[in-house]
Amino acid sequence: MSPPQPENTHQKMRRKCSNLMPLCVLVVVIAEIMFLGRVNVAHKNSLVNSWAGSLYQFSTLPWSLMSYGFDDDDNRVGSGQVGGIEEYSVPDECEEWLEKHDFVAYSRDFEKEPVYVSGSNEDMKSCAVGCKLGFIRDKKADATFGAAKTDKGPFVLRSMEPVSYYPENNIDYARRRGYAYIMTTSLSSDIPAGYFSWAEYDIMAPLQPKTENALAAAFISNCVAHNLRLQALEGLKAANITVDSYGACYRTRDGDVNKVDTLKRYKFSLAFENSNEEDYVTEKYFQSLVAGAIPVVVGAPNIQDFAPLPGSVLHIKEVKHVEPVAKTMKYLADNPDAYNQSLRWKFEGPSDSFKALLDMAAVHSSCRLCIHIATMMREEEENNLNLTERPCKCTRGLETVYHVYVRERGRFEMESIFIRSGNLTLKALESAVLLKFKSLKHVPVWKEERPKILRGTDELKLYRVYPLGLTQREALYTFSFKGDDELKIHIEENPCAKFEVIFV
Ligand SMILES: *[C@@H]1O[C@H](CO)[C@@H](O)[C@H](O)[C@H]1NC(C)=O
Ligand SMILES: *[C@@H]1O[C@H](CO)[C@@H](O)[C@H](O)[C@H]1NC(C)=O
Ligand SMILES: *[C@@H]1O[C@H](CO)[C@@H](O)[C@H](O)[C@H]1NC(C)=O
Ligand SMILES: *[C@@H]1O[C@H](CO)[C@@H](O)[C@H](O)[C@H]1NC(C)=O
Repeated sequence: MSPPQPENTHQKMRRKCSNLMPLCVLVVVIAEIMFLGRVNVAHKNSLVNSWAGSLYQFSTLPWSLMSYGFDDDDNRVGSGQVGGIEEYSVPDECEEWLEKHDFVAYSRDFEKEPVYVSGSNEDMKSCAVGCKLGFIRDKKADATFGAAKTDKGPFVLRSMEPVSYYPENNIDYARRRGYAYIMTTSLSSDIPAGYFSWAEYDIMAPLQPKTENALAAAFISNCVAHNLRLQALEGLKAANITVDSYGACYRTRDGDVNKVDTLKRYKFSLAFENSNEEDYVTEKYFQSLVAGAIPVVVGAPNIQDFAPLPGSVLHIKEVKHVEPVAKTMKYLADNPDAYNQSLRWKFEGPSDSFKALLDMAAVHSSCRLCIHIATMMREEEENNLNLTERPCKCTRGLETVYHVYVRERGRFEMESIFIRSGNLTLKALESAVLLKFKSLKHVPVWKEERPKILRGTDELKLYRVYPLGLTQREALYTFSFKGDDELKIHIEENPCAKFEVIFV
């Protein structure tokens, strides 16, 4: 460990004093003395007080061991621009020292040596980390798509099928079978691979007049399912909901049509999945949103997490819900204002929660896989380091400055931010994150992907901050720091804590 370099101190002195006012002047004085002492001790010595001279010797200690007293002597010291009470300080001194000593020179440069996943040929247009998918002869893969075998791992399970038909897609079961990386529709999987993306669905497509006589359209190819989809369909009919059926199940209309264009003419779309599974939400649902036909869902128990706005989706969770849902459908069909209200997200835009969910898919799942793998490699490398060599915090007077790292979801590289113990709050963390990314003129990863009308201004808006490594289910829905104390404990217990943030 070496002390902060006096040269830096001297340069930084000319910055404005932004905080820590009482220490400000003194720090400047010490800094200047350190500078003078270093460049020309003998010559400038007469300008330096004796107490200051002894402090210079202390400066060979790391910042974390330095301590300051208060000086009531604000004489000009030395020849620098020192002494203006509110004008000068060295606000970034601790930060620079931490940047230097917390730095980890990782062994692998992913730009030169991309993450290589074999077993699937895909072109990776752009990815925040070097990422190569394909089949490269004689090259050892970092991971391989396909059935877990004992000797050629680590393996990636990738499937968009529901667990009720493919039990092997159960996350715990797949782990037990030896898969290192799991990609399913579940937001609790390592790299969720959902059916949704802004690119695939023109979510904000304008509404069209509802010209059909029947209230709802259904595209159900198979009446048999592992859930109540058939009962729900029969129940709605029994409740006098008129349904035009385009699929093989109870077909009433010719099914050889454009599905989305057809749905646009109906007030409701029966988005009936073949299984009721958390996060299993397929094109049936997203096409209904594009069409502006209110989705009536049999499927994911948490379908409301996927609603563009509260009140925009009807959910038949159990048989007993068929009747009330039928009533609501009739009510909405008979009340144009209420109906229009359920689709107001088409005019006003969806909720931040919906945007944050769909934005996840702005980064291709294979790229997210590479980011995940590369992140795990770095974590492992860090875990093998001698952590006593990374200070991750330093003490400045009565305050401790914590070094933490943040990145945007969908990106790879981490940025440094610093949190002071005197203000170790969620608000301060959020504002430090915003300040950092603003100073970097950061462009959110979804900017080019979202429909133009949902891209917002250049102002960054923070939606979530969470510890790196959480699942998307946790990050988006279940995790939050329960107050400042919990954040404080987290930062104290996790040196150089890493966070991921979601902008909306
Ligand atoms: C459905 O319509 C039939 C005939 O119009 C009527 O007899 C029946 O009561 C209605 N059922 C419901 C649930 O509204
Ligand atoms: C529906 O509501 C939007 C505002 O949310 C309004 O602009 C539009 O004119 C309404 N349409 C009808 C048919 O009432
Ligand atoms: C870690 O580093 C510290 C300081 O450099 C040293 O004293 C200690 O022995 C090291 N521990 C290990 C396990 O290498
Ligand atoms: C703590 O941080 C918040 C958010 O940045 C800021 O508004 C507040 O003034 C800070 N409080 C102190 C005592 O520095």
